[in-house]
Amino acid sequence: MTRVAIIGAGPCGLSQLHAFASDSSARPGAVGGPELVCYEKQSDWGGLWNYTWRTGLDENGEPCHGSMYRYLWSNGPKECLEFADYSFEEHFGRSVGSFPPRAVLFDYIKGRAERSGIKDLIRFNHAVRSVSRSDAGRFTVTTHDYGAGSAVSEDFDYVVVASGHFSTPNMPHYPGYETFGGTLMHAHDFRDAVQFTDRDVLVIGSSYSAEDIASQCWKYGARSVVCSSRSGPMGFDWPEGIVEKPILTRVEGRTVHFADGDSAEVDAIISCTGYLHHFPFMDDELRLTTANRLATSMLYRGVVFQPENRVMYLGMQDQWYTFNMFDAQAWYARDVILGRITLPGADEQARWIAERQAAEDAIEDDYQAIDFQGAYTQDLVDQTDYPDFNTPLVNRMFHDWKKHKKQSIMGYRDHGHTSPVTGAQAPVHHPPWAHAMDDSLEAYLGEGA
Ligand SMILES: Cc1cc2nc3c(=O)[nH]c(=O)nc-3n(C[C@H](O)[C@H](O)[C@H](O)COP(=O)(O)OP(=O)(O)OC[C@H]3O[C@@H](n4cnc5c(N)ncnc54)[C@H](O)[C@@H]3O)c2cc1C
Ligand SMILES: NC(=O)c1ccc[n+]([C@@H]2O[C@H](COP(=O)([O-])OP(=O)(O)OC[C@H]3O[C@@H](n4cnc5c(N)ncnc54)[C@H](OP(=O)(O)O)[C@@H]3O)[C@@H](O)[C@H]2O)c1
Repeated sequence: MTRVAIIGAGPCGLSQLHAFASDSSARPGAVGGPELVCYEKQSDWGGLWNYTWRTGLDENGEPCHGSMYRYLWSNGPKECLEFADYSFEEHFGRSVGSFPPRAVLFDYIKGRAERSGIKDLIRFNHAVRSVSRSDAGRFTVTTHDYGAGSAVSEDFDYVVVASGHFSTPNMPHYPGYETFGGTLMHAHDFRDAVQFTDRDVLVIGSSYSAEDIASQCWKYGARSVVCSSRSGPMGFDWPEGIVEKPILTRVEGRTVHFADGDSAEVDAIISCTGYLHHFPFMDDELRLTTANRLATSMLYRGVVFQPENRVMYLGMQDQWYTFNMFDAQAWYARDVILGRITLPGADEQARWIAERQAAEDAIEDDYQAIDFQGAYTQDLVDQTDYPDFNTPLVNRMFHDWKKHKKQSIMGYRDHGHTSPVTGAQAPVHHPPWAHAMDDSLEAYLGEGA
């Protein structure tokens, strides 16, 4: 029997399990179907959406996976990530607002996984330690089973890596950090903006974490927020209390100096400087090495590891599209494993990757980047039986969302978008995001969403 190891039970790992479960000849228990084993180092599924208050090491001494924080609301319209085979309306029994808080999205992810009946395939509290070739030409996966307190090795024919890439901080050093007297942290360890009420905060970076953590600190009462970036300001029409500065050059005590000669006194520095693709458990020859970009290195069709096609990676791209792209990738990986998709030779795969990277390098703005990832996702959908879900509409909604952010960075979540699956128009959540302080599922569903 073909054995498939899946590493991680976050959205990507769950998409992979669900892809098999959705196929009558490959679902668990089907005669002649593959045997699936999913290893998850945490005690629950959902990946980043499974909130933890912990930082640093988890209860088992593993690097804490969670990078999400209290009060995190979706930063893109939920309609743009909707599963094509499981709509939000189906899950909640009605149409809900377009920018749900974390707990609501976690509930949605769990809903499909529960219906799919895949939980028994997941070995929780199993941290994958190593993946290497076995003498028999298969792959040996060694895990630490924290329940039993011992290491276990098993052989597989395929390995699908779905361990995420937003959990290992990229933490650059700036002169003076050693003696900074305030709080110095990476976004990975940010858990609760209330910690910064009445504080002066410096945020480094100009991408989503910087934008959202600055907004959170403002919303929960920080005295001031300075955003410092090396490649130009985010350029939003920030409310009073948030300003943008060029990159910091050094820190002296609590004083931060910027490249324009200006300075500011701060209580906290939050480094929103991104994450590293980090797979220490993969043998050198099986390990993906790539920047965080749309056209990843080494992955044919963004999924199949070009040097060894029996190893696949899901969700390793920089992301506009998320859950539905993960599904499309998982369906593609499933069909490669089932022999339904014939892969071209190594040279052709390398040519495909190089062409995609050249095309990405020629992209001029975010609107083109969105369309680029939409076309990529559609291409995978077209090659499998994943339900078509109107990527042109999703692209358009992403474009509208970009414009809404330009109009009002604190107000873009106060819009409703259209489901590409059911066609339903989402209501606008009330109260407006800037005044909605409770991020619980109960509050969100109860407050007229
Ligand atoms: C702060 C933050 C906010 C975000 N907000 C949004 C948003 O609003 N909307 C959106 O669409 N996307 C958002 N994202 C993007 C996010 O990447 C995806 O939504 C999604 O969580 C990615 O799924 P994944 O399965 O690839 O990875 P993850 O969610 O990271 O899951 C990976 C899983 O693998 C497990 N794992 C890792 N290593 C091992 C190991 N060695 N052994 C066993 N198990 C292992 C982890 O415990 C985890 O459960 C956000 C990301 C971050 C960091
Ligand atoms: N739902 C939400 O509200 C929410 C909130 C936070 C994050 N997220 C998600 O989390 C994911 C990761 O986002 P991210 O913003 O953490 O990472 P990211 O998009 O990779 O951005 C990294 C940022 O760090 C900067 N940077 C890197 N090295 C630096 C250095 N040495 N000095 C100064 N700046 C440096 C980069 O600047 P350059 O541009 O100069 O390289 C960039 O602005 C995204 O998918 C995002 O959507 C979602």
